[in-house]
Amino acid sequence: MRSSAIIPFSFLIASSSALVVPRQAQSIAAIAGGGPPNGPAPLNISASAIADFSGVNFLENMESAFFFQGLQNLTKWNTNHQHDHAIDVVTRVQAQELIHVQTAEDILKANNAPIFAPCKYDFPVTNAEEFFALANIITSVGIGAVINIVSGLAISDPKIVQAPASILAIEARHDAFFRHHSVSDIPNPAPFDTRISSAYALNLASPFIVKGSCAAPSFPVIPALKAEVNGKTTGSSGPITFSFDTTAVSKDDLSKGLYIGWVNQANVVNYKPATVDGEGMVKSTIPDGMAGIAFAALTPQNTAEDVNSLTAVTIGGPAPVQIS
Ligand SMILES: *[C@@H]1O[C@H](CO)[C@@H](O)[C@H](O)[C@H]1NC(C)=O
Ligand SMILES: *[C@@H]1O[C@H](CO)[C@@H](O)[C@H](O)[C@H]1NC(C)=O
Repeated sequence: MRSSAIIPFSFLIASSSALVVPRQAQSIAAIAGGGPPNGPAPLNISASAIADFSGVNFLENMESAFFFQGLQNLTKWNTNHQHDHAIDVVTRVQAQELIHVQTAEDILKANNAPIFAPCKYDFPVTNAEEFFALANIITSVGIGAVINIVSGLAISDPKIVQAPASILAIEARHDAFFRHHSVSDIPNPAPFDTRISSAYALNLASPFIVKGSCAAPSFPVIPALKAEVNGKTTGSSGPITFSFDTTAVSKDDLSKGLYIGWVNQANVVNYKPATVDGEGMVKSTIPDGMAGIAFAALTPQNTAEDVNSLTAVTIGGPAPVQIS
């Protein structure tokens, strides 16, 4: 007889709420291939580390909701079993994102910092192709944000770099899968992935978040910039047009000498002149020598060298641009 069959009824009542969470967590961990790190959560972490794990909590909530919806949709769209393999992979991706959420929340709670409940989300996805394409962008944004977190923690809290570094490698494997289904069957287009700032990541997430549906970490809001490109570009060097909301970008900013600052791999920002070309449109050039995903920002200067200093002087953007 299994021991659970003889647990007294009163014990089940008393412990039922305590039993529910670990049971669910256990099955998610089983799907994910493991649970959160089982050692003690790091204590007394810095204020910037709290901000970093708040960002991880917030963005991974969005990713897990995106993949949860995507999984339901793929199952619905799987009319000829064409998505069987993707469903298997996305099931694991979604569970792994939930484990990442739990990891960030464990660290925040251990340090008496608030955690972030999921928002309501609205993703512009109507078919499998759009799901895979947006999955590639969302995972690329996540990778860029986690590179920034690892870089920051290496200075502020070097002892706790390992969890986000381990998350980073798994997010890269997720992205390789979604690249394969949307951009290219080459999983490794470049020797380095591209770091973005936390403000860039949060601005890129915000169109998918239903306003007022949740608490968010505070971040500077930057008007959106959209690359007028379908899928990936034809590579470096060509012309490119971006659109932006003229009501959001000030006339004063637009009257300055404009540039597109290109963030790609581990390089300093590459600037190309940009010219306003009609209402809410700006034209520029794709620089040589980029690969993988790049992030383009409209800015009135050409001297900020890294993505964090560029963020402070971005008047529109960033726009993710898939170069290869
Ligand atoms: C917590 O961190 C602060 C500085 O960040 C340090 O001064 C303090 O000694 C630390 N406390 C413990 C218990 O480690
Ligand atoms: C799933 O499908 C619904 C209904 O078509 C759509 O509104 C939603 O954006 C889709 N989400 C994802 C992540 O595929």
